[in-house]
This record gives sequence, structure tokens and C-alpha cells, in this order.
Amino acid sequence: MNTRAQQKALTVQDNLRSLPGLPPVLQRVRDLRDGDRAEIDLVCSLYRADAEASRELLRIVNSSYYGVPRTVTTVKSAVELLGADAFRSAAFLQHVFGSFPPAEGAKTVIDRGEFWRHALLTAALARFFAARSSAGTLSPEQAFRAGLSHDLGKLVLENHSPAEYAPVVEMRRADPSSELWMYERLELGLTHAYVSSTLLGRWEAEEPVRRAVEWHHAPSRAEGPDAPAAALLHYCDYLAHRAEPARRIAIPIPLTEPDAPAMAGLEGDEAEHLELSRAELNGASALFAELSGE
Ligand SMILES: [Fe+2]
Ligand SMILES: [Fe+2]
Repeated sequence: MNTRAQQKALTVQDNLRSLPGLPPVLQRVRDLRDGDRAEIDLVCSLYRADAEASRELLRIVNSSYYGVPRTVTTVKSAVELLGADAFRSAAFLQHVFGSFPPAEGAKTVIDRGEFWRHALLTAALARFFAARSSAGTLSPEQAFRAGLSHDLGKLVLENHSPAEYAPVVEMRRADPSSELWMYERLELGLTHAYVSSTLLGRWEAEEPVRRAVEWHHAPSRAEGPDAPAAALLHYCDYLAHRAEPARRIAIPIPLTEPDAPAMAGLEGDEAEHLELSRAELNGASALFAELSGE
């Protein structure tokens, strides 16, 4: 890194100090367990105090993606129908999507629509393949949360360091055959994966999820049980891009770590995986359309 990049790296690091913590309701949801009546009641009362969060959460739970058999009208029945872990994912989705909504009219450096579509596709694929992994990676719901949050660092950088980040995104745009994180490392001395992991650390998120997110571009550098989890995320991130028609026409970026599917304990090849997960991809696309009002 040259001196100018070092200076920018310091500024960006400094700007991360003001990252927001997790709202109290999400802290309770993080520790929610099936059958813990007192905790469930407390979570419900916290949601009752936040009408907008409740409304958005119920919108997610009632989306076609969750396929619940009847319209859910209370947070309590959402917990009962989904179970604590899937409810945690829905609440997490409501929180992250609400924190960085698709921009209405405002010009953002990162295309929010594209961002959320990719995040949801990656999350759905990660959940699907975590259930099929023989490597003991993340639980399917943890994998979903990892997929949702793996690239949040891009939005944090855009929000907290716009002057430093905008030129980096532009450089990548002019060179679509390379990856954004490569320019981030070159220009800012850190990547969005690091920033996503810093945000999850601030939120005291589950450690296996945070570490998988931290290494989602370089799973072979993760340690012990984090390696298969990061490999799963690395591969699903790639598959989510491959599944996008726009990316198929553009210069395809190869899988950075070709061993990732094997590391993640997955059998079969890419074509099979895309075919197998077609329903998941369609479901995630539909959820994106419902969430973004498209
Ligand atoms: Fe990424
Ligand atoms: Fe990604």
C-alpha cells in the first residue's frame, strides 16, 4: 500500500468506530429458544412497541417464500409457526433490509436492488446447500443469515466512507473481469468481507456466522471448522452470481477457490447444483420482488 492508500485505510477504519449496535429486540431474538415462554413473551412485547418493525416482519413471514399455511397476524404466532431459528432469520432479514433499504430516488454507489437480490439468492442457496453438506458447516438457518450479511460491508463502506469508497466501486465498474474486493484491498487496505465481519462483531452475532462471512472470499485461509462454512458461503456467493442472467452474459468470474464445493462437503458439479436449487433461486427472486415492491 502506498502512503495515500494507507491514509485512506486509516480514515476508513476510523469511520467504522461509529457502527451502530443491534437494537434490543434483535439481541433478544438472537438468544431466543423454542419453548422458552418468558423470552418469547418478552420478544413479542418488544415488537408490540415497534409497529413498523412488526409490520415488516409479518410481511416477510407471510411472503410466498415462507409458505406459511395461513396469514400470520401476530409475532407470537410467527415464532410458533416458524420455530425460534427460522424466526431468527426472518427477524434478521427484516432488520438488515430495513437498515439499508433499496434507495428511493437517491443515487447510491452500490445498486441496492442488485445488492439485495444477490444477498437473498446467496442466503437461499446457503440454506439449501448447508442442509446437504457432509462437512458439518453451518446449520441451514445460520447459513441463511451468513448469506444475507456476507456483503453488508459494501453498504457500510458506502454509508460511512463515501468519499473513499465511491472511486473504488467506479474502478471495479470499469474492470468487470475483476472482483470488487481486490480493488478494496488495493485502495483501502481492507475488504468489504472484513467490514461485514466487523459489523457482525459489533452486533455480537453468532461467531461461526461472523467468521464464515469474514472469509467468504478466501475460505482456505479460515481455520478448522470455519473453513467448510466459509467454503459453503464462497461457493453459494459464486452460484448466486452465476444464476443471474445479467452475469451470465458478462465476463464470467471464475470460482476463486475451485476446491470450495469439496471443502464444503458437497457432491456433484455446478450444473447439477444450479439445477437442484432452481426452486430455491426462484423462491428467493420472488421474495426479493415482494420485499422491494417490484
Ligand atoms: Fe463479497
Ligand atoms: Fe457476494
